[in-house]
Amino acid sequence: MNIQIINGPNLNLLGVREKSIYGSADFETYLTELKNHFTSITINYYQSNVEGEIINKLHEVGFTCDGIVLNAGAYTHTSVAIADAIAAITAPTIEVHISNVYKREEFRHHSMLAASCKGVIAGFGMHSYRLAIESLLLTY
Ligand code: DQA
Repeated sequence: MNIQIINGPNLNLLGVREKSIYGSADFETYLTELKNHFTSITINYYQSNVEGEIINKLHEVGFTCDGIVLNAGAYTHTSVAIADAIAAITAPTIEVHISNVYKREEFRHHSMLAASCKGVIAGFGMHSYRLAIESLLLTY
């Protein structure tokens, strides 16, 4: 089983950025933990701050991998183009958020992407990614 994790803008700054919201762990350290936890799954990781590059990655992997875990960061709330890309591909995509976006500013309460995704997981810190992978495993 092949899972692609895609992180969007500013998520390269995890561990540095707004620690009270996103925690003090960097994503690479968490990714190692995730790979050690799911030893029978191939987990690939991609991060970009650029909307079009996220779309290119969705196109590249979206017809061949078994699932996508996508934290599109702020593009979640704005991007029709990423929503269209998710709708265009065949791999099930899970929208994830580290923070509970519903506890935060109102502009974070709406997702442009959720309707094109299989489901949404938010508010469990870094473990949102693990829960998203668990949800993809349920379908196998
Ligand atoms: C986020 C929530 C978004 O609203 C925000 O723009 C992010 C991170 C999260 O993981 O909690 O960059 O997607």
